[in-house]
Amino acid sequence: MLVLGLNGNFSPADEDLVPGMLEFFFHDASASLVRDGTLIAAVEEERLNRIKKTTKFPINAIRSCLATADVSPADIDAVGYYFREDHMDMVLNQLYTENPRTPTRYSRWLIKDRLRAELGWELPDDRLIYTPHHIAHAMSSFVRSGMREAMVAVLDGRGEEHSGTIFLAHGERLESVATYPVHKSLGMLYLSATQLLGYKFGDEYKVMGLAPYGDPGRYREIFDTLYSLRDKGDYELASSIVGPNLFGPVFFAQGFLPRRRGESFTQQHMDFAAGLQEIVEKIVLHVLGYWAELTGLTKLCFGGGVAHNCSLNGVILRSGMFDEMFVHPASHDSGAGEGAALAATHQLSGAVFPRVRLRTAALGPAMGGESEVMDKLGAWNALIEVVRPGDIVDRAAELLADGAVLGWAHGRSEFGPRALGNRSIVADARPKGNQTRINAMVKKRESFRPFAPVVTPEAAPAYFEIPATAANYDFMSFVVRVRDERRAELGAVTHIDGTARVQIIEPATNERFHRLVARFGELTGTPVLLNTSFNNNAEPIVQSVEDVLTSFLTTELDYVVIEDFLVRRRPNFLAALDHLVLRFSPVTRLAKHVGFRSSGERTVVHEISLDYSTGPSATVSPQLYALLEKVDGARPLAALGGSLSETLRAELFRLWAERFFTLTPT
Ligand SMILES: [Fe+2]
Repeated sequence: MLVLGLNGNFSPADEDLVPGMLEFFFHDASASLVRDGTLIAAVEEERLNRIKKTTKFPINAIRSCLATADVSPADIDAVGYYFREDHMDMVLNQLYTENPRTPTRYSRWLIKDRLRAELGWELPDDRLIYTPHHIAHAMSSFVRSGMREAMVAVLDGRGEEHSGTIFLAHGERLESVATYPVHKSLGMLYLSATQLLGYKFGDEYKVMGLAPYGDPGRYREIFDTLYSLRDKGDYELASSIVGPNLFGPVFFAQGFLPRRRGESFTQQHMDFAAGLQEIVEKIVLHVLGYWAELTGLTKLCFGGGVAHNCSLNGVILRSGMFDEMFVHPASHDSGAGEGAALAATHQLSGAVFPRVRLRTAALGPAMGGESEVMDKLGAWNALIEVVRPGDIVDRAAELLADGAVLGWAHGRSEFGPRALGNRSIVADARPKGNQTRINAMVKKRESFRPFAPVVTPEAAPAYFEIPATAANYDFMSFVVRVRDERRAELGAVTHIDGTARVQIIEPATNERFHRLVARFGELTGTPVLLNTSFNNNAEPIVQSVEDVLTSFLTTELDYVVIEDFLVRRRPNFLAALDHLVLRFSPVTRLAKHVGFRSSGERTVVHEISLDYSTGPSATVSPQLYALLEKVDGARPLAALGGSLSETLRAELFRLWAERFFTLTPT
């Protein structure tokens, strides 16, 4: 049985369902394809439509899954959706009454309409199966764990009525034994605090990375007034805590100053983050501890967005309350889409699922065959030099040992937020300076943000304190302690508190990436690399050859490896921009704003923007605006406006780096 799992919003590619669609309104769109319970393809829509954490309907992801499996809609037995139908319709009804542009209040109508319009697919009503949100999370986590019996804990922002559910899982059966209502949402608690630190939805992991710089003791007394642990694994949050404007006042009263976006972090902010992380860990340990003891279950599957809190996951491991723990690589709502496919499979066929632990997240589209990649690289010849070394892994390891920072793109992309060796940036994990260097050269992000290590299985125990609780270290889901004597050696990947979010790379799961780490170890004596996602701060992780080259050309990476090819920029590549074709995405907008001051003076501002919630905008010069107005998506820039001036080219380059448009060869 072939089932497509979906999650996300219903907005078409070129406009939101309603103007000003909220960023957290059915986010993280993705598609997954499950054949008889086995996950054969999965990709997040953001990788394809190039909008971070997109709320668009995952039509590109659906197309990609179908193409990967070489099937058509007629081959699909059912579609699974990751919330209960009445809940989706209730939320839609609110939009429908608030905004006359909402086409319908029925999600069923919208899903079927999108599939019909884009794919000519008439999905029968009885083949669209909705699954309660936490069951969807739990299914993906439990089935992929390979376990036959486990406690499954789902914690997230919210499902239909709950923000947490504890399941006892056995075989194909999930029994809910406890639920935690939305007003106790740990996901929303974390988000509320995140917003006080000048970050937004989706930035929670940055706060987690900030926490180790802080002293949790500073605000502990205040944090302790905001929650209470109850009997039987229950807890309460202060009723005002979930909501940014309500969370803050108790801290403001103690002199805490929130951070506004773009401001630098103070010690107060770090201490606040540390205090937040501490109470979340205390509450989760309290909940899990009770249920572990009561049920006697020794295995844990942890799902929902909170399971992406890798520091918390490490604390659970070290608590010793379980013998084994599993975290899905897409524990957030993308994984719930996959879980909905599993639930639909089971509902329709009663299938018994194969129990094999998921070892690889390489479930997305591939980079392409050798000749396809070669052709694509050839088209960029004016900007890049391409060589094909005899052994690309060997050559890459040598460059890394010489201090180079490499883009590394190979095979199928990863499902979930982590780059795990197929769409990665890699570097020597030893020099402490590599942290600030890569943050500045590629990510253009805060220098405090830590990078993660990838290590061979043989070397892992020598470098890291691996807890006795078994865990799947394939997906960078656990923060562990770096051994005291190794912290100086792993300067670029050891966080300030002596921890690291480690990935252990097995040859069986990614032979090429394992060989790279091992070869680097042979050359340097340290079989550990820094591994971070291949993207800059304005884009999702790269997917295609074009994405890879765009990211490479607009950062300061030394080289990029694409499959078996080693790529370098040509020294004067900027001059060749004139020969590229500029294309707008379906959400790019140009606007000329004419206004008048009180003095009567006329003002004109030219602007380019991306039209989605939190989409960026930038002012452009009248000269560039005139050029952009001529864009037809076919002719190269030189044919639109002649040779570009240095100033215009620099402006164009800056906007390209911010991903307002694409530039590709003809
Ligand atoms: Fe969720």
